Amino acid sequence: MQPVLPCHRIRVTTSQAAISARNLTLALGSDDAPVEILRGIDLDIARGETVALLGPSGSGKSSLMAVLSGLERASGGSLLVAGQDFATMDEDALAHARRGRIGIVLQAFHLLPTMTALENVATPMELAGENDAQARAQAELEAVGLGHRLGHYPQQLSGGEQQRVAIARATAPRPDLIFADEPTGNLDAATGHEIVELLFARREETGATLLVITHDPELAGHCKRVLTLGDGVIATDTAA
Ligand SMILES: Nc1ncnc2c1ncn2[C@@H]1O[C@H](COP(=O)(O)OP(=O)(O)OP(=O)(O)O)[C@@H](O)[C@H]1O
Ligand SMILES: [Mg+2]
Repeated sequence: MQPVLPCHRIRVTTSQAAISARNLTLALGSDDAPVEILRGIDLDIARGETVALLGPSGSGKSSLMAVLSGLERASGGSLLVAGQDFATMDEDALAHARRGRIGIVLQAFHLLPTMTALENVATPMELAGENDAQARAQAELEAVGLGHRLGHYPQQLSGGEQQRVAIARATAPRPDLIFADEPTGNLDAATGHEIVELLFARREETGATLLVITHDPELAGHCKRVLTLGDGVIATDTAA
C-alpha cells in the first residue's frame, strides 16, 4: 500500500494575486466639495484572470481602473498590484511600478500624433531601458496585422488600425496586467469584433491578467468573470 502523503493545502497568498484591494476609496473634486467616487472596493483578481467591469455611466469604472493601474492614487484603503503596495507609493514610484508591467488601452487610442506607429510602440520600451525596443515593436505590430503600416502616423490610420497600434503598445513590453477602458467604444461593430478577437489573442499569448471596461456584451462574454460597479462598490461579481 502506498504511504499516505501529508496533504498541504495550497493557499493563495496576496503575492500570487494580480490585484488585491481592500476598502479602497477615491474622493475627487475640491476639499470643500469632495465627490466620493469609490466608497469601499474589496476585490481580488488572480493572475491570468479575464475580468469584465460593467456599470452605468458615471458609476466610477474609469476611476477604479485609474486607481488599479496606478494612474490615480486612492484616497484610502489598501491596494496590492502584482505584490506591490500601490496605496503607499508616491507618483514617481507608481510611474516606475507601472512601466513594463501594466499595459493600458483606452477608448480614444491616445497615440502620440507626431510619432509613427513604430515609434508609438517602441518609445515607451526605449524609455524603460529595453535594448531591442525597435525590433520588439516591429514584431508586435506585425502580430496585430500592421507590419505594412510601421511608418504611418496616427492620422494616416483608420480608427481600427489606431486601436491595433494601441494594443501593440500595451502588449509589447509583455506586461503582467492589461487594462482596457471601452476599447471598442469608438469603433463600428465589425471593427470592434476584430479588436476584441485581437485583444484576447494577444492576452492569451502573454498570459497577462486582463481587466476590461465595456458596455459591449460580446466583449464581456469573452471574460471568465463579470463585475458590476454601483454606488461606488462592487455590486455583483459573477463567474461567466
Ligand atoms: N476630477 C474629478 N473631479 C470630480 N469628479 C470627478 C472627477 N473625475 C470623475 N469624476 C466623477 O466621478 C464619477 C465617475 O466617473 P467615471 O469616469 O469613473 O465613470 P464611468 O463609470 O467610467 O462612466 P462612463 O461609463 O460614462 O465612462 C462621475 O460622476 C464623474 O463626474
Ligand atoms: Mg468611463
